[in-house]
Amino acid sequence: MSKNVYLPYHATSEKAHIKSMEQYREMHNKSLESTEQFWSEIAAQFHWETPYDINNFYSYNFNVTQGPVQIKWMEGATTNVCYNLLDKNVRNGMGDKVAFYWEGNDPEDYSKITYKKLLEEVCRFSNVLKSKGVVKGDRVAIYMPMVFEIVIAMLSCARIGAVHSIVFAGFSSDSLAERMADCKCKVLVTADSVYRGDKLLNIKSLCDIAMDKAKSFGHEVSTCIVVRHLPRLHRSINTSNGTNGSNSDIIDLHSDVPWTDGRDYWWHDEMDDVEPSCYPVWVSAEDPLFMLYTSGSTGKPKGVLHTTGGYLLYAATTFKYVFDYHPGDIYWCTADIGWITGHSYVVYGPLANGATSVIFEGTPFYPDNGRYWSIIEKYKVTQFYTAPTAIRALMKFGEEPVKKHNLDSLKVLGSVGEPINPEAWLWYYQNIGKERCSIADTFWQTETGGHVITPLPGCTPMKPGSASFPFFGVKPILLDESGKEIEGVGEGYLVFNKPWPGMMRTLFGNHERFQSVYFSKFPGYYCTGDGARRDEDGYFWVTGRVDDMLNVSGHLMSTAEVESVLTEHPDVSEAAVVSRPHPVKGECLYCFVTPNHGVAFTPKLSSELVKKVRESIGPFAMPDVIQHAPGLPKTRSGKIMRRVLRKVAVNDREVGDISTLADEHIVEELFKNRPEKA
Ligand code: WT7
Repeated sequence: MSKNVYLPYHATSEKAHIKSMEQYREMHNKSLESTEQFWSEIAAQFHWETPYDINNFYSYNFNVTQGPVQIKWMEGATTNVCYNLLDKNVRNGMGDKVAFYWEGNDPEDYSKITYKKLLEEVCRFSNVLKSKGVVKGDRVAIYMPMVFEIVIAMLSCARIGAVHSIVFAGFSSDSLAERMADCKCKVLVTADSVYRGDKLLNIKSLCDIAMDKAKSFGHEVSTCIVVRHLPRLHRSINTSNGTNGSNSDIIDLHSDVPWTDGRDYWWHDEMDDVEPSCYPVWVSAEDPLFMLYTSGSTGKPKGVLHTTGGYLLYAATTFKYVFDYHPGDIYWCTADIGWITGHSYVVYGPLANGATSVIFEGTPFYPDNGRYWSIIEKYKVTQFYTAPTAIRALMKFGEEPVKKHNLDSLKVLGSVGEPINPEAWLWYYQNIGKERCSIADTFWQTETGGHVITPLPGCTPMKPGSASFPFFGVKPILLDESGKEIEGVGEGYLVFNKPWPGMMRTLFGNHERFQSVYFSKFPGYYCTGDGARRDEDGYFWVTGRVDDMLNVSGHLMSTAEVESVLTEHPDVSEAAVVSRPHPVKGECLYCFVTPNHGVAFTPKLSSELVKKVRESIGPFAMPDVIQHAPGLPKTRSGKIMRRVLRKVAVNDREVGDISTLADEHIVEELFKNRPEKA
């Protein structure tokens, strides 16, 4: 074993589910060699209305040349995910257990909800959805802040067999419109407004713009249900210091909520009129549970579709083992529910285990930079799951904000969204985990549904920056450019040749694209789009995307999608976007823009472009640099040589071979044109 290996947490490791690498290997082998047996033992812990057939437990085809790609687990069995998450736990005597603590943006604003109460609210909202004509298979779009109602809305969909399609509420109205039109949702569930830090965001206004826009794309959303969130915030602000937000403010702000009678309904009005019980709809294991859009390397976002049975097993099992969850633990994942991390590890995984979790509405910096640490102390959080970008942002404030809080409750620290640099890993390990806690650097994707490569707490010796070993049921393979499998030490394309229960089944309404994006480069393999290295101890190190995708603060986006926004500007002729390393965000956007002939490149144009990207995609996509490019480095066949642009972005003159460029002089031009501040 090489140097710099950190042993797992000692205080609790004798209690860990997986106590040694030996035990891990044994279980991992079983999961691959006796797949049916391994997963059916887990399936037996859940309720199946129609049982699964152990002799026909799963089937798949990954080879496009031999027919359509398909993945099926427990086909023919029926169940209901909501029933397994709520009714089952309530029946097992956990009704009064807290399912979620809610911590508002304002520290004075908090509450909690038990399993029993959550079930009752879900039943009510299921009845509301039914009253609006939602039936099994219909899509329901959700664009909401981190409040209980987003969980209630999701689980209500699951209860009646509807498919939720959550759009992260940081996305622009354009992005929401595009996604709603693509999934053809009958209903949109949203909230009036939300505070992020000290900024008030009027979400409902954005929804109105998006619904109008969706109409122009040929899709009309028939119902919009709106949670009145704002007065709740004001109520607590009133009690906290008595100076902010008088009652008249509430009413004024409230009347500002734009409204269309006959389409828009208040959540609380609708909930008053319905029964608090609702029989679950039994659905097939392969019926869709939800869809979630992720960026594609070309144009349109992809509606990743997850189904019922396999996803339930996988979210539940990864949650239990990767966070080494035990009854009594208090778990907190900081991800927004609008991303896959929030789906699998704020909602489905924890509830499937009957866990108690924290949902946090705010930001790590409000009201001060110690907010995360104060929440861990307040709820005595045992497992904390966040992103490297947040860790790097918080590192900047040093240890002082951390030291003010007692973090002794922590056992496991998770990381997700991008490779974690060893410096951030060590800071997390030493200053947050006090060298007592295991770090789970979890590699996975929207498409994989749950963790696929990750250390297991109390078991895997950790190497900072390595996601280490595959989870049960997963066998990573590295391929070289020619598609040959790399054995032992080496680096290549990270692929898989067999499915695990939680992987996506298709792209909504576009199975062709599903096959061509993920299965065509190497027939027989699911291609992650990431590169990875296997070291001498067999550890996997994910090195980042090998396609034209970039990862800004854990948000995946494609260069193509940003380029198309830039070129929509009437003064822009051409644009090329590359990623540049960034100390906090991981990567940032560096944009090269060629104005139309005769148009000058001005600071005004530059700031208009920044604003345009922000407004069209979302604030997280804001470019760091817009550089004037009199021309772009293109090959004779017209392909932009992005590696040259990446060199310009970091001011590295070692550009390599540029002999295939149509015009080599452009490279020098571009270096000369680098903005001073860049
Ligand atoms: C891409 C997936 C996984 C949920 C959040 C992001 C990168 C994610 C890691 C990690 C290295 C990582 C990959 C992947 N990524 N986690 N631990 N180490 N890279 O989901 O938006 O679908 O993005 O994020 O590049 O392909 P996503």
